[in-house]
Amino acid sequence: MSAKLAIAVVGFGAIGRQHARNLANIEGVDFAGVVDPLSDARASAESHGYPSFSSVEDLLKNPLDAAVVSVPTALHYPISLQLIHAGIGVLVEKPLAQTIEQGTEMIERSRAGGIPLMVGYVERFNPAIIAAQGLIRDGLVGKPLQVTTRRVGTWPARVRDANVIVDIGVHDIDLISFLLQTNLTLLDAQGGMAISTDRIDYASLMMDAGGVAATALINWVTPVKIRDMTITGLAGFLQIDYLRQQTHFAPGRDFVITESYEDFIAQYEEGVLLECPVVRREPLRLELEKFVDVLHGAECPDPKIALESLRIALEATGMIERKLRLGAPT
Ligand SMILES: NC(=O)c1ccc[n+]([C@@H]2O[C@H](COP(=O)([O-])OP(=O)(O)OC[C@H]3O[C@@H](n4cnc5c(N)ncnc54)[C@H](O)[C@@H]3O)[C@@H](O)[C@H]2O)c1
Repeated sequence: MSAKLAIAVVGFGAIGRQHARNLANIEGVDFAGVVDPLSDARASAESHGYPSFSSVEDLLKNPLDAAVVSVPTALHYPISLQLIHAGIGVLVEKPLAQTIEQGTEMIERSRAGGIPLMVGYVERFNPAIIAAQGLIRDGLVGKPLQVTTRRVGTWPARVRDANVIVDIGVHDIDLISFLLQTNLTLLDAQGGMAISTDRIDYASLMMDAGGVAATALINWVTPVKIRDMTITGLAGFLQIDYLRQQTHFAPGRDFVITESYEDFIAQYEEGVLLECPVVRREPLRLELEKFVDVLHGAECPDPKIALESLRIALEATGMIERKLRLGAPT
């Protein structure tokens, strides 16, 4: 392994703190500190022993190889570009940007400068997803037919510049595309504002994933936090729980005629869903380890996939907003 990499975190909020904790503990990383304009955030960083800076300009006065951009979504574009222009590798949190134009420019500028630009789609590094990916690759699921995802929970007060599709739905759009290795087409979107007065906070998306029917349920309304996915294939069924890092698999089987109600119930309860071996690890840590590999020359996950996820999220937003303006039932 070559010399240690100096990596900083720009934006020491909810997710930036998790990045900092991990970076400070990754071998081969010389944690370069955090940038945040809020004095409270900087004081908190200092209490952890991290150097702190009030601006990217100040950070850039020090030796730096790369930075994690974990500022509010509206700032992903200007701050990432500032870093790319300075020749600094970037891991930008999802969503890539606020608009397709911004995201396209970020990708073009990073390519032109030969600067790594990775997008923080952390669920790709969830061990439950990695297990599912292996089962799909080994053909156990067979030809995929239908995918469902649920990403529901309560209202996050700190998110002020994105609706529920752009803020969290992009994870599922990205994961469907990632697991099925295909681009998505939005077919329909229904949703509205249940609690919020200015942003969509619940949505159901119907998408075509290369011939596979994909449905995503997203909201900030359900009082229980659920993050899961199912994939039905010709040869088997997968059930993935991201929060518990569990992957279950049921091989395809024939319908069995039973004589009693107990036997009828039993065939749906016992040994139908098999728990796959999953070694629990913190997905963010795995994502950052991948970023370090990328900085050392490994292939960078294509940021264009993140641009496609954003495109679908924005299309769904537009579709729902049009329906709301037209007064159609949501
Ligand atoms: N991958 C994930 O699962 C995941 C989870 C949470 C958040 N996120 C993304 O991360 C980003 C940050 O979200 P959050 O929940 O941590 O937000 P947050 O509001 O908790 O934190 C953002 C921080 O950025 C700081 N900041 C604002 N302007 C800045 C600037 N010019 N320079 C440096 N710092 C600045 C703020 O002071 C704040 O401390 C969002 O884009 C969000 O979508 C991703």
